[in-house]
Amino acid sequence: ILLPVILSGGAGTRLWPVSREAHPKPFIRLPDGQSLLQKTFLRAASLPGVQRILTVTNRDYYFQTKDEYQPLAPSAEPIYLLEPCSRNTAPAVALAALYAHDRFGLQTTLLILPADHLIKKLEAFHQAFATAVVLAQQGWLVTFGITPSAPETGFGYIEAGDPLPVQDGAGRVAVRFVEKPDAVRAAEYLAAGRFFWNAGMFCFTAEALLTAMETTCPDLFAAARTVWQQTEPAANPVELPKVPFNELPDISIDYALMEKAANVAVVPCDLGWSDIGSWNALVELAQADDAGNRTIGETMLLDCHNTFVQSEAHLVAAVGVQDLIIVDTPDATLVAHKEKAQDVKRIVKHLKDCN
Ligand code: GDD
Ligand code: MG
Repeated sequence: ILLPVILSGGAGTRLWPVSREAHPKPFIRLPDGQSLLQKTFLRAASLPGVQRILTVTNRDYYFQTKDEYQPLAPSAEPIYLLEPCSRNTAPAVALAALYAHDRFGLQTTLLILPADHLIKKLEAFHQAFATAVVLAQQGWLVTFGITPSAPETGFGYIEAGDPLPVQDGAGRVAVRFVEKPDAVRAAEYLAAGRFFWNAGMFCFTAEALLTAMETTCPDLFAAARTVWQQTEPAANPVELPKVPFNELPDISIDYALMEKAANVAVVPCDLGWSDIGSWNALVELAQADDAGNRTIGETMLLDCHNTFVQSEAHLVAAVGVQDLIIVDTPDATLVAHKEKAQDVKRIVKHLKDCN
């Protein structure tokens, strides 16, 4: 059995004010009208043999998520695991694996799919997935490697080693996994050439995942088991109990597992992948005019260059500015320099600290 698992419980603070706690990144609608979450569901449903898709998310997003899937006339049955609070991706994945073990058995193949990036080449995704499934069934924890184009510090880096004997060497041993290195190391990895960005998707059997977690993060593993023992597993949605869920450590799968596990493989692939990780990536999706300006909604730009303006509610006009990102929503407005797009998350942190 193959079970795609969509993770959509994060907040995506770098896309404030469009993405925020009540309206996180997976719900952002792209210029084509579909949300990242809808695109992720359709991508999962397009894989051969998929009958159900498990979404692990915060319980506050349950109805919103159902509303997103409903118009897709889903060919796969949506099932839900609802978290009472955020504990990052390692607990979410552990509980997805415990769920899969309970319902479909230890040999269930899980395909973990974050709902916060774009994949333009569906064919290439299918191919990479086919390789990943074979490796997963051999017991590997499979990652998907994207050829890096810049020394980004917001991604995991995977050092690829020897080719594995599967599909003409389409998979390789991952010698090293480094989550979010500093700028110096990111530049080193980029120059070395053997490194890939981690796409954030993973493929493994429930058994391989649970066994590896027992070794790399035994406390988390034990705590997740305790949560699962106190959960009513037959329902849909499955609601994870607040106590003891809130006692789980807040850590990502990348730090808790991937950096430490021994049996990690990587499938290098060219998926037309883009992490909509900051406003710069979202800006790229809009068409640029001759001056490099891009606009969405009701806007007016005079003598502006390389500037992005998005308006939801009323006219936003700019004159004589360059390299800016201006995003207006009914209750908050962002003005940022393009070079500081990564720092937008600091605004959110500040707002939280003040409240
Ligand atoms: N259910 C649930 N619960 N989902 C969560 C939670 C949570 O507590 N926290 C985050 N998520 C979801 C997010 O909505 C997103 O879809 C996905 O899990 C990944 O989380 P991010 O917080 O966006 O991770 P990241 O972008 O910092 O880093 C990951 O993705 C990069 C590629 O985009 C890592 O895997 C990196 O190694 C990778 O390069
Ligand atoms: Mg992300």
